[in-house]
Amino acid sequence: MKIIAYGIRDDELPYLKEWEEKNKIEVKAVQDLLTTDNIDLAKGFDGVVAYQQKPYSDGIFEKMNEYGIHAFSLRNVGVDNVPFETLRKFNINLSNVPAYSPSAIAELSVTQLMALLRRIPEFESKMKSGDFRWAPDIALELNQMTVGVIGTGRIGRAAMSLFKGFGAKLVCYDVFRNLEIEKEGLYVDTLEELYKQADVITLHVPALKDNYHMLNDEAFSQMKDGVFILNYSRGMLIDSESLIKALDSGKVAGAGLDTYENEVGIFDIDHGSQAIDDPIFNNLYNRENVMITPHSAFYTKTAVKNMVQIALDNNKSFIEKGTAENLVSLD
Ligand code: COI
Repeated sequence: MKIIAYGIRDDELPYLKEWEEKNKIEVKAVQDLLTTDNIDLAKGFDGVVAYQQKPYSDGIFEKMNEYGIHAFSLRNVGVDNVPFETLRKFNINLSNVPAYSPSAIAELSVTQLMALLRRIPEFESKMKSGDFRWAPDIALELNQMTVGVIGTGRIGRAAMSLFKGFGAKLVCYDVFRNLEIEKEGLYVDTLEELYKQADVITLHVPALKDNYHMLNDEAFSQMKDGVFILNYSRGMLIDSESLIKALDSGKVAGAGLDTYENEVGIFDIDHGSQAIDDPIFNNLYNRENVMITPHSAFYTKTAVKNMVQIALDNNKSFIEKGTAENLVSLD
């Protein structure tokens, strides 16, 4: 058995080698992202492992089928850049890593919320210029707030336990309800109800078509004045122009964002002194009450190790048994 892994970064390589040695299976690491131009490198291999944010084009899978490869394993959770119909057509199995570290995402979301509530960016910039006064940057306490969690999957639930630890009240919404949360009576029936009650809204839902711009003008208008918004899921969930309007009006008091709807070409790139050519992004980026990280919530040693090794486990399982623990349904 031989597996080829595309888009392998230096920080992933030791985990890939560790898996290779433990499993006695050859894994070829390719630094470049997977495209139709380099899929020919996969000829002679039994499975393909990949991670990238750019869309995977149809031609990749046509070639995989030609080479007799029917095992395709992602190292991440999101499957929104994979053409399901093409995989179905060529009978290619798809897996993801749904739980490489829910805590990694949850911990950054809470960290940024706390920084916003405690006015860390404002104090930092004041103190850098020698101003050590308190006012006007009075803080808010999370234990006095209600956090609205949209999406109660693994990451949403990991975030909930952290918010609980701070003593916050919780209110949740999900179309697929979790039994434990149901028992605790934390669900509301509509998003509107959640918007009405929440002082903080945190998004943990996937990038499905129906979720496109779920936070738009209408949604913001239903929220409490001075609400805080957290998005550690997918940029497309928020209409960024609506968010800017809501920040301008004070409807939204602050936002913690690890994603942005047009982030490909902005994040995980060293821009040096070059300005970013995206006025909407720059508008958000230049605000003290908006904390942006470059989709780096997943970037912990624990998560990266799990992403590499669980993806390889899935791929091996596809090759050996035709199925895998994290098989993604293509329906
Ligand atoms: C995912 O796992 O889908 C993510 O959003 C993290 C990715 C940047 C590795």
